Amino acid sequence: MALKVGFIGVGGIARRHLENARKREDIAMVAFCDVVPERARKCAEEFNGNAYENFVELYDKEKPDAVIICTPPFAHGDIEEEAARRGIHFFVEKPVAVNMETANRIARIVEEAGIITQVGYMYRTSEAIKKVRELLSTRAIAMVQAHYYMPGLPSPGWWPKMELGGGQLVEQATHMLDLGRFLAGEVAAVTGRTARVRDWTPPAGYQPGPGLLKYSDSFEIPDTTALVLQYESGALGTLSCSLVPQKSWDVGFKVVADGLLVTIEGANARWVGDEEGEMKAGPNYPAYVLYEFFDAVMAGKKTDIPYAEGVRSLAVSLAGYESVKRGGAPVALSELVG
Ligand SMILES: NC(=O)c1ccc[n+]([C@@H]2O[C@H](COP(=O)([O-])OP(=O)(O)OC[C@H]3O[C@@H](n4cnc5c(N)ncnc54)[C@H](O)[C@@H]3O)[C@@H](O)[C@H]2O)c1
Repeated sequence: MALKVGFIGVGGIARRHLENARKREDIAMVAFCDVVPERARKCAEEFNGNAYENFVELYDKEKPDAVIICTPPFAHGDIEEEAARRGIHFFVEKPVAVNMETANRIARIVEEAGIITQVGYMYRTSEAIKKVRELLSTRAIAMVQAHYYMPGLPSPGWWPKMELGGGQLVEQATHMLDLGRFLAGEVAAVTGRTARVRDWTPPAGYQPGPGLLKYSDSFEIPDTTALVLQYESGALGTLSCSLVPQKSWDVGFKVVADGLLVTIEGANARWVGDEEGEMKAGPNYPAYVLYEFFDAVMAGKKTDIPYAEGVRSLAVSLAGYESVKRGGAPVALSELVG
């Protein structure tokens, strides 16, 4: 029998998951919920299900086996709690929240409910990244150097607001911080500095790329951030991120380990040293993070990226911003998680 799946928050990224879910015959896409009713209605028409404005109503009327939650960072908490209390498994897009209070609370409820969860850290499901993890698993790691350069400001209105989007570290560079944990283990402490390099008023002659805005009159997050990470293993890490307008996206990593230098660009990887090679991610690798969730629910098994993993990765971002508040003093992760 097909798995009954509902979708909550059907804006930008939901389209990817809707299209990927549609390709699976073992998935019944039964319901779509959005606080903008028109968006839910359009999905209901396109995918032949029911539209809702309120997720509780969706849960109680449709009784889905699982839901795919793609709401903005600030809109997490009750959606996950109500799902867990009803035994509904969920996939949730990163970041799991904008603060630790919500993330820790939901983690406890999820644990008690025993439901299956997966967080949308899709880089982890690239075969190339999995291969790198295997190569690194037997070596001492010295340095994990990551960057996330975005060529401008994404269009959702919540993005430039700290309270709503969480800032670039929480909303976006979380992908790299999560990958750092995936490859090099837990982070013990984080030190951070942020800057506002431009004034975010309309620049003369600047043409933003697709999906990016020219300026924002409500821009209140840092546009440039640098972190130093102390890993529990003794390795050091850095993260540089910026959204100051320039020409291209550039997202990646270098990992220095005993006998090996790994370079990760997007979801592709190459390595030189006592072993040499390169590997590309599969063409539709972002689908795997969703498919692994569906497969786990059908098999009644845990996933590789459960909610608790999202909580720990969120904590690394928030430790960075907390360090900035404390004038650059290191912040221990143990202060935030749990
Ligand atoms: N993994 C990735 O590569 C990736 C890529 C892009 C976005 N994302 C993440 O996905 C999330 C959503 O991003 P987006 O770009 O799709 O945002 P968006 O603003 O385009 O879409 C969010 C949708 O959720 C709806 N919504 C808000 N509150 C709701 C509620 N309480 N109930 C139901 N619907 C609600 C909004 O009306 C909107 O339609 C963000 O956390 C973002 O970081 C992940």
